[in-house]
Amino acid sequence: MTKPKIMTVYGTRPEAIKVAPVVKALDKDERFESIPVSTGQHKEMLEQVNTMFGIQPKHGLGLMKQGQGLNELVSRAIAGLDSIIEEEKPDVIISQGDTSTAMAAALAGFHRGVKIVHLEAGLRTGDIHSPFPEEANRKLIGQVAELHLAPTAGSMENLRRENVRSKDIVVTGNTVIDALLEAASWDTKFADPALQEAAESDKRLVVVTTHRRENLEAMKEIGGAVKDLAEAYPEINFALPLHLNPKVRQAVLPEVEHLPNIIITDPLPYDQFTQLQNRATIILTDSGGVQEEAPALGKPVLVMRQNTERPEAVVAGTVKLVGTNRELIVAEAKLLLSDAAAFDAMANAVNPYGDGKGAQRAIAAIAELTGVGERVEDFLPEAGSSKGPKARNNSRACRRKRIY
Ligand code: UD1
Ligand code: UDP
Repeated sequence: MTKPKIMTVYGTRPEAIKVAPVVKALDKDERFESIPVSTGQHKEMLEQVNTMFGIQPKHGLGLMKQGQGLNELVSRAIAGLDSIIEEEKPDVIISQGDTSTAMAAALAGFHRGVKIVHLEAGLRTGDIHSPFPEEANRKLIGQVAELHLAPTAGSMENLRRENVRSKDIVVTGNTVIDALLEAASWDTKFADPALQEAAESDKRLVVVTTHRRENLEAMKEIGGAVKDLAEAYPEINFALPLHLNPKVRQAVLPEVEHLPNIIITDPLPYDQFTQLQNRATIILTDSGGVQEEAPALGKPVLVMRQNTERPEAVVAGTVKLVGTNRELIVAEAKLLLSDAAAFDAMANAVNPYGDGKGAQRAIAAIAELTGVGERVEDFLPEAGSSKGPKARNNSRACRRKRIY
């Protein structure tokens, strides 16, 4: 019997991190032929992850262009993937998350009659414009997927509300926790001497990341907030590993350059960024992945967005939505940095997103889909690790109140 061919498509940093545990497990699993494919939507930021996890794509499209637009990126991705699908004739395509690569992979596979598996399915904010274009991408992928690998019971409920059949949904836990647990176990030093010094010092450390397209206009405000905080707390270090998007750099850099306690770096390799999160006092971010990782490390997170598709850690009290207004970001961060009770209330290690076995459950579900095995039990967070199963992303806590 020929082995089912499983093509895993990825193209950006977060996808690479989240598919890495799945690709490694597929490569080892003799029931399958594993075909990792990179669109190269990202370049340096993607290569960092491939190197770190030792993943070598069989095909790479090398798509990244400076300042790429969504339509040209998606059209080039679909055309490039179509040729690979024609050559490889996969039985299954795994599309991870909500990027342009993920959407293009799902559509290209669907057009060719390939079974689509959506890894990290069912995340929703309920606002098609936020995050943009990711909310639309997730919904589009969901329309063509035959198997929906939901990270949490909440994301499974979102899919059920859209009439996806229960039998087509498996709750796996997010594979980012598999990756995080692996990276956290490595003995890592910072390549940047300023970061290494900050990590070894007794000083507190605030970690900041920002990159969302819908935040580009507000990013000057985010940069301004970091500047205000760094001036208000000269005894605290601020680490800002900056995304390579030139628009992010143009908005943020003029605000934060030349302050002695702000350490600006290029994107960090995943193991170093994991250590940085682990060393942080608090984290300010608009990242999706960081919202999942930081709670597992017990770090309070202020999310600089209007809403989130990851309500579980908000409900558990480790993540708070603060929007993108400069004064409000500063006020919320000052509360955590100056009020021990407010800090303690948020600094709880909770792990609603996974238990490190996400890839194992995903592969068992794919084995069932392809007739070579059976799915295993769904992921259920440990009691007390979240109020996950009942968490709804339309809960009030997950929409920033307009009083701000
Ligand atoms: C993309 C995803 C977003 C995800 C993010 C993770 C889409 C539409 N957006 O957004 O969902 O949260 O990745 O980081 O799929 N660049 C480089 N080198 C790199 C990577 C990017 O120079 O290694 C620069 C290029 O100029 C590129 C620009 O950043 O054109 C934007 O990259 P792009 O992938 O289009 O969007 P992101 O904002 O990274
Ligand atoms: N990350 C990293 N280096 C950095 C910043 C982030 O490896 O300098 C990791 C982070 O740990 C998380 C992922 O990148 O796993 C998140 O990627 P990003 O914020 O770019 O995208 P999103 O998750 O918002 O789609």
